[in-house]
Amino acid sequence: MDRIRIRGGQRLNGEIPISGAKNAALPLMIASLLTDDTLTLRNMPRLADVNLLARILGNHGADMTVDGKRHGCNNVQGDTVHLTARTIVDTTAPYEFVSRMRASFWVLGPLLGRCHEARVSLPGGCAIGTRPVDLHISGLAALGADIDLEDGYVIATAPKGLIGARVSFPKVSVGATHNVLMAATLARGETVIENAAREPEVRDLADCLVKMGAKIEGAGTDTISIQGVERLHGATHRVLPDRIETGTYAMAVAMTGGDVELIGAQGDLLDAALDTLRQTGVTVDKTNRGLRVARNGSGIEPVDVSTSPFPGFPTDLQAQFMALMTMAKGRSEITENIFENRFMHVQELARLGANIQLDGDKAIVTGVDTLNGAQVMATDLRASVSLVIAGLAAEGETVINRVYHLDRGFERIERKLGDCGADISRLSE
Ligand code: UD1
Repeated sequence: MDRIRIRGGQRLNGEIPISGAKNAALPLMIASLLTDDTLTLRNMPRLADVNLLARILGNHGADMTVDGKRHGCNNVQGDTVHLTARTIVDTTAPYEFVSRMRASFWVLGPLLGRCHEARVSLPGGCAIGTRPVDLHISGLAALGADIDLEDGYVIATAPKGLIGARVSFPKVSVGATHNVLMAATLARGETVIENAAREPEVRDLADCLVKMGAKIEGAGTDTISIQGVERLHGATHRVLPDRIETGTYAMAVAMTGGDVELIGAQGDLLDAALDTLRQTGVTVDKTNRGLRVARNGSGIEPVDVSTSPFPGFPTDLQAQFMALMTMAKGRSEITENIFENRFMHVQELARLGANIQLDGDKAIVTGVDTLNGAQVMATDLRASVSLVIAGLAAEGETVINRVYHLDRGFERIERKLGDCGADISRLSE
């Protein structure tokens, strides 16, 4: 299993290209199930999760081709993919797949919309809390689906097709919003989603669906209305830049000091995180090509943070921000409001010498002058990248084990950081 070795202490200087957003790319790929035409997606990130989802969609009958794919290489290499689900050959998403990637549960809505039936395993994914799917199920049931749970599978049918309805979520869920939004595009009549997720990735999905012929208004706000249509057609869509990758590299620069331009980054996708970073003493400026992030000699100011749905501070940047706070000039409080049990990075950061106390959904971080390299283990996607950030500033050598988590969500991280002066390499076995 690959490991990442970092020798800390180098400032980051240079440019980092920001990839297309993983969390938009996945639902966009799934949207290809809604039509028998070809959906072309540009600016796709090259990630393990994209490859896995391509296999899952292949099982349903969707073909994916990639422009610029290198001969003899099984990984996605180009950044344009074409997905065609001419015929849905199988409406079952088996446990082997869904347990490996939670987002694949979102095939439920599109399969129901197009085929009026679906059998989808209950998901697994990152081990960050229980992560139920009740909102997905109640949302689709509101559109008229009959839903049963059998042997770990959700079995959903709507023999006469889905019917538009009012879906009022008691809690904001990105995935349930994606699922109901996709299903509703092919339902009869109007669906209104209340308390919808406002994440930019929901808006990106809606923009793509509109290009495919869907009638959607309000995506990006908490009320989305969808007028069902009979069929959707092919389209070409460019995936929006990854705000989590952007915030992660911005925090890496904040941690090591230096000056990096994040090419293609869009600051308005992460205002809350950038405002927080500025309070720590970092400068963040818009440039013609993206964002410039810099921190000079001054230390890192401690800042309290509380995660919340968009437009608040994202839970997907919580671990990275905690890594930064481990070397701040004082005490900070980090509150996790989205997922229980999303503090698995705490004990690994402690191995590097961080001083963090946990109190329920709150972590109290007391900054230390130095971190020291050690062997650590990646436990989930965002936690593992927080260890990279800490390792970049730690004295000596840090080795991160189980980096497959990292490969799920960060494209060529060792190259992007290495090009900016980090001493980082992948140890393959
Ligand atoms: C998505 C993102 C993930 C991010 C999360 C929150 C992708 C591929 N993943 O995950 O990176 O951390 O949004 O921004 O885009 N919940 C329920 N019942 C449900 C569904 C969710 O109670 O049926 C709860 C969850 O346990 C959690 C909260 O709602 O506490 C938010 O989860 P949700 O927004 O659904 O996260 P995901 O869509 O899985």
